[in-house]
Amino acid sequence: MTKPTPPEHSPSCASTEESTGLAGWIDQRLPIISGFKAEYIHFRMPKNLNGLWNFGAILTIVLLLMLATGTFLAMHYTPTATDAFLSVEAIDRQLPGGWLLRAMHMVGANLFLAALYVHLFRGLYYGSYKAPREILWLTGLVLLLMVMATAFAGYILPWGQMSYWGADVISKAVGAVPVIGDTLEHVLAGSDHLGDIFVHRFFVLHFILAFLVVGVVGLHVAAVHVTGSNNPLGIEPKTPKDTVPFHPYFTSKDLFGLVLFALIFALLLFFWPGLLIEPDNYAPADPMHTPADIEPEWYFLPFYGMLQSVPSKFGGLVAAAGSLLVLFALPWLDRSPVRSARFRPMCRVGLIGLVGAFVLLGVVGQHHAQGGWMLLGRAALLYYYCYFLVLLPLATRFEKTRPLPTSIAAAQGDA
Ligand code: HEM
Repeated sequence: MTKPTPPEHSPSCASTEESTGLAGWIDQRLPIISGFKAEYIHFRMPKNLNGLWNFGAILTIVLLLMLATGTFLAMHYTPTATDAFLSVEAIDRQLPGGWLLRAMHMVGANLFLAALYVHLFRGLYYGSYKAPREILWLTGLVLLLMVMATAFAGYILPWGQMSYWGADVISKAVGAVPVIGDTLEHVLAGSDHLGDIFVHRFFVLHFILAFLVVGVVGLHVAAVHVTGSNNPLGIEPKTPKDTVPFHPYFTSKDLFGLVLFALIFALLLFFWPGLLIEPDNYAPADPMHTPADIEPEWYFLPFYGMLQSVPSKFGGLVAAAGSLLVLFALPWLDRSPVRSARFRPMCRVGLIGLVGAFVLLGVVGQHHAQGGWMLLGRAALLYYYCYFLVLLPLATRFEKTRPLPTSIAAAQGDA
């Protein structure tokens, strides 16, 4: 006799198979096995997802790798201004396999941020921030802020020249906040100079934030499972023909994406470990000697460009912080009923411009917004804000969208 099955296209289509034996005994008391089956084996996904939907799984696995390598690094790291640099050198040169541990953590951080930007762009392009996925989007943004803070705190830890001078730039930017700036700067440093307390504080922050990120990822993924995934067409699945079960279709697809990603990871790790690493940070922090070129890691360069394109320090801080905060308002700024930029010609061009402006701001940051770069930086910054605050609200009213297919299956000629 066949068992009744819930509607196939509903994302939370639960398994009706019951576990027996020990698994059944556990599951009746704590339904982790049936929960896993419902949420990962039988969970229905839109069948038209492209490679950009691999990045959530990639981020999750790299996050686990970062936690594992970070925990072992922490066992050998000394969080004081005098010994931090030497302890990191000892990990690299004396600890068996220490160089590999550290290189994995550093390459991992770079690729994590790269994957995060791709993941965010996917959401922007396909309108995954729109109803009913607003909370999913907001938890993603909280993750973005937490990951950025974790990466910044981590970069302080080797206490090399760039760690020190990067921290100096940021604490001075914080010090420029009117009225409370001095107090904030003092709270950040923990004393009147960047030394032991600062390094120790950022070590604790780095460690704690990394584990908090895992908790927020839990909420984020739970939110994906409530609404189900969006897809390149931006229309909701309507019939069972629009979806396929997560296993084996997306377990194999995610695995394929992970293998490709691991190849890039290995290539950087074993052949170009120096590509993403700032050589100045291989010199110990020296408060008496300012490096010729103070520049953050590539993933912070666009924000550094914003900081420098505005003549006042506080203005720069507001522009850089605002560029992230505006993303929180996005679900309410863009009220168009059409999600995917595939069907939104104005939004699509605007979005290409947005990516261009963001990259340009990074180049401006690299050139310290000097001369003509300052003007370019201001133009790019203006465009960045106009995209969200002017173009999207206008597009909601005036954009002529292309007709949407009636269903995912119909778009694939399988109706
Ligand atoms: C620690 C960082 C993050 C992790 C581990 C993570 C993980 C995931 C996973 C596993 C998924 C489901 C698979 C997928 O759709 O790719 C997902 C979906 C999603 N994430 Fe993230 N995410 C992170 C950060 C972010 C950020 C920064 C944003 C942007 C604000 C974001 C926005 C989204 C959205 C909108 C979806 C649903 C996409 C859709 O269905 O179209 N995530 N995330």
